[in-house]
Amino acid sequence: MVTIEPIILGFEGTAHTASVAVVRGDQIIVHKAATYVPAHGGIHPREASEFLAKQFPILLKQIITELPFKLQKIDAIAFSQGPGLGPCLRITATIARAISLLLNRPLIGVNHCIAHVELGRIITPAEDPMVLYVSGGNTQLITFLNGRYRVLGETLDIAIGNALDSLGRKLGLPHPGGPNIEYAAKKGHKLLPLPYTIKGMSFSFSGVVTAAQKLISKHNLEDICYSFQEYTFAALAEATERALSCTRKSSILLTGGVAANMRLQEMIEEVATEQAANFYAVPKNLAGDNGVMIALTGVKMFEKNDYISVEQSLVKPRWRTDQVEVKWIK
Ligand code: ATP
Ligand code: FE2
Repeated sequence: MVTIEPIILGFEGTAHTASVAVVRGDQIIVHKAATYVPAHGGIHPREASEFLAKQFPILLKQIITELPFKLQKIDAIAFSQGPGLGPCLRITATIARAISLLLNRPLIGVNHCIAHVELGRIITPAEDPMVLYVSGGNTQLITFLNGRYRVLGETLDIAIGNALDSLGRKLGLPHPGGPNIEYAAKKGHKLLPLPYTIKGMSFSFSGVVTAAQKLISKHNLEDICYSFQEYTFAALAEATERALSCTRKSSILLTGGVAANMRLQEMIEEVATEQAANFYAVPKNLAGDNGVMIALTGVKMFEKNDYISVEQSLVKPRWRTDQVEVKWIK
């Protein structure tokens, strides 16, 4: 029997990255992305949205040129409906609605956090994993149960990526801080005292940033970066271990922008080994925000006719992982 795999056009634009991708089933056909880097300070929502508005038409043109078939062949348009920065989400939704009306194809509203998770479930062998989702805006321990992704633990204040980026700024490192802190940490060796905050399966990071900031005048940058990673990643590893031993899942999946960090991967892999579970991480080039994860989740939703009308396509800046009814997993 020949199965026809859906062709989905996906738009990601929740914060800093404008990305467009076309997939057929699980196969990536074309993928384009452009990332906004603030001139100074953190991400400015209006500036980021202006960046997206400028980049989407450019990326879409490139996609159309490189597609091995006409854009009219796509079956549906998926877009990141939330959570994220309101001005950015509105730009992304506007372009998705326009293409949907132009091509007369259904619109699929994808939850960005779930897309990070689905990506991992599709492109790694992880089937029903305990997920540690670590990014600039979110840090959650997620697993699937009774029709929904459930959040077992999460940050009580800021996300780990946000914590790394704000410490990076305080240390004078370029944005984003995460990869630069990882690089500097490799040269650090002295473990400086910092708070270790874990409450059940949840964690918090803003106090650790403040404490690390106080070390700046007395210690070298490499040791501060090293210590910050050791303390915060150890809290994430401990919470993951608890969640895994409570649920008896047989694998751990690490996803989101911070999943690119090799030290975090090493620590979470150690947890998996100790609990006799498999460890999987999304590949580095798809760890951060991308249109591929939106399009791939779109395929799953398309197969369940999980569409929305233009009237239902209002953006959802605070859309939680556990608010989505997941129709595509049994
Ligand atoms: P979300 O809405 O999922 O929170 P996001 O806007 O944070 O998305 P992502 O691209 O998923 O976007 O993640 C970006 C974060 O990943 C940034 O905080 C960045 O510093 C962090 N990051 C990227 N590479 C590394 C690395 N090697 N080590 C640590 N952090 C990293
Ligand atoms: Fe993200």
